[in-house]
Amino acid sequence: MLFLVVSSICLVKLAAALNNGVGRLPKMGYDTWNAFACNYDQEKVLSQAEAMVKHGLVEAGYNSIILDDCFTLRNRSTDGKLIEDPKKWPNGLKSFTSEIKKFGISASAYSDAGYRTCAGYPGSYGHEEQDLQTWTEWGFDYLKYDNCYIPFDNVTDENIYGRYQRMSDAIASHASQTQSEPFWLSLCEWGWQQPWLWGKQLGHSWRINGDIEPWWSAIASIINQASFLSWGSGYYGHNDMDMLEIGNTGQGTPVGNLTYDEAKSHFTAWALLKSPLIIGTDLTNATRETIEILGNRDLIRINQDPNIGEAVSPFRWGINPDYVSNATHPAQYWTGNSSYGVLFMVLNPFDQPANMFFNLTESWAIRAGRIYHVYDMWSHTNNGTALRNISLTLPAHGVAALLLNDAGPEPELTGTGLPYCAIYWQCSWPNGTYFSN
Ligand SMILES: *[C@@H]1O[C@H](CO)[C@@H](O)[C@H](O)[C@H]1NC(C)=O
Ligand SMILES: *[C@@H]1O[C@H](CO)[C@@H](O)[C@H](O)[C@H]1NC(C)=O
Ligand SMILES: *[C@@H]1O[C@H](CO)[C@@H](O)[C@H](O)[C@H]1NC(C)=O
Ligand SMILES: *[C@@H]1O[C@H](CO)[C@@H](O)[C@H](O)[C@H]1NC(C)=O
Ligand SMILES: *[C@@H]1O[C@H](CO)[C@@H](O)[C@H](O)[C@H]1NC(C)=O
Ligand SMILES: *[C@@H]1O[C@H](CO)[C@@H](O)[C@H](O)[C@H]1NC(C)=O
Ligand SMILES: *[C@@H]1O[C@H](CO)[C@@H](O)[C@H](O)[C@H]1NC(C)=O
Ligand SMILES: *[C@@H]1O[C@H](CO)[C@@H](O)[C@H](O)[C@H]1NC(C)=O
Ligand SMILES: *[C@@H]1O[C@H](CO)[C@@H](O)[C@H](O)[C@H]1NC(C)=O
Ligand SMILES: *[C@@H]1O[C@H](CO)[C@@H](O)[C@H](O)[C@H]1NC(C)=O
Repeated sequence: MLFLVVSSICLVKLAAALNNGVGRLPKMGYDTWNAFACNYDQEKVLSQAEAMVKHGLVEAGYNSIILDDCFTLRNRSTDGKLIEDPKKWPNGLKSFTSEIKKFGISASAYSDAGYRTCAGYPGSYGHEEQDLQTWTEWGFDYLKYDNCYIPFDNVTDENIYGRYQRMSDAIASHASQTQSEPFWLSLCEWGWQQPWLWGKQLGHSWRINGDIEPWWSAIASIINQASFLSWGSGYYGHNDMDMLEIGNTGQGTPVGNLTYDEAKSHFTAWALLKSPLIIGTDLTNATRETIEILGNRDLIRINQDPNIGEAVSPFRWGINPDYVSNATHPAQYWTGNSSYGVLFMVLNPFDQPANMFFNLTESWAIRAGRIYHVYDMWSHTNNGTALRNISLTLPAHGVAALLLNDAGPEPELTGTGLPYCAIYWQCSWPNGTYFSN
């Protein structure tokens, strides 16, 4: 009896998210890798920071810059310390992080759970506490942790979990020794070994896929994958769908290689699935469309909802049967709840415009027998009330993001003579006779 009680407490503890005071909501920020790879320095990153301020993105919540791979020298010092690259940071990293803090932007570091980072710079295996100390001196408070160049099994006696746990433990011990806030830990192990099952025990987000690419087939494939994992996100732990490829990806079109409608679908899915929102494009010549999409306050406030941490999930797949995985045709009809109303995300996976239809009561969060005010989170307009169902025409690869709020009971409908039953085969009269229509 006693044993049972104790073991169930342990199970509850194991399943809980890492609530160490940071990382309750998805991170918002900027990451250098997709736009610049190793080819960046103080001047380039500062111009991104300036663009973020100028376009209102910091004010919208993008308040962190992740220096991805390549910000140190390739060798540690003789005492094992990371060395800042003096060419990239002529005034030193500490001065750089102070500079962006003046803009309201914090600094995030990148490293690796192996001997080297993916680009061959020093990894933190065996140097976990030492590196945390160094990053603290340089002014960082967040760590994106990659998974390249791992030691042989006989060296670590550990799997992915154990190598990431080394850093998670080091973060806890560093925070308690220095009486400071723990670093946020972002696990970048590309979705190997189901991090949505255990990532929340060690860190605050975990990548669910390999690297994103700036074209629609990559976006659709990540959305398809996320459709099966949406339950994995919640406060203090988030499925990370990778960076936002919205903006100048160096391929010349106003929203990268994505069309305007594709970019809107990309942002809607990332925001409503509670992924970290990390910009991965060059913002210096950002177009009005890019800023409109990245700065969508209606979607950002859902992503950052202080009362409801769960992501939207599909209630009907659409063209394909429910729960069928299809990288080009992900689930089309999604719902969830928020502090601001019931959420619907409707996605058109087809290469041409399509008519989309759903009954309101297909969503678990809708009350039957009520009408709803409809707010469109892209046009930012109230679009009247909905009775029982909504029909939409969406452009190729387009999206609708709707917020519904109760507008009272359905009006008495004259003419049919019969009451309505949302689950039409299940309603019965009090005498036990099924209603059928
Ligand atoms: C790094 O250290 C290795 C081994 O000590 C040495 O062979 C190499 O030249 C060094 N590389 C650089 C870029 O300093
Ligand atoms: C791991 O195995 C390799 C190959 O047998 C060996 O060279 C190395 O010394 C081993 N390392 C440890 C830590 O046992
Ligand atoms: C985007 O890039 C992909 C892959 O290179 C290509 O197949 C597609 O046609 C491009 N789309 C646009 C709109 O340029
Ligand atoms: C941004 O625009 C400026 C001025 O038109 C141009 O010199 C620069 O090359 C552009 N940068 C990018 C990344 O396109
Ligand atoms: C994905 O779904 C579409 C629409 O049903 C279908 O045409 C296509 O063959 C499917 N792809 C695969 C790989 O099953
Ligand atoms: C949806 O969230 C709101 C706001 O937190 C809450 O009042 C409401 O009860 C929730 N609805 C459901 C069906 O859980
Ligand atoms: C929507 O509701 C109507 C009327 O109850 C029903 O006939 C139809 O099958 C429903 N469609 C879906 C997709 O649930
Ligand atoms: C809502 O109304 C606006 C303004 O008329 C329109 O642009 C938008 O497409 C409408 N949204 C939906 C989902 O019909
Ligand atoms: C949608 O709801 C309306 C009532 O507002 C009803 O007349 C219509 O038949 C419904 N459409 C479908 C396809 O169920
Ligand atoms: C049950 O009640 C309904 C509605 O009043 C009626 O139409 C139906 O005939 C009744 N069934 C039986 C078996 O009495």
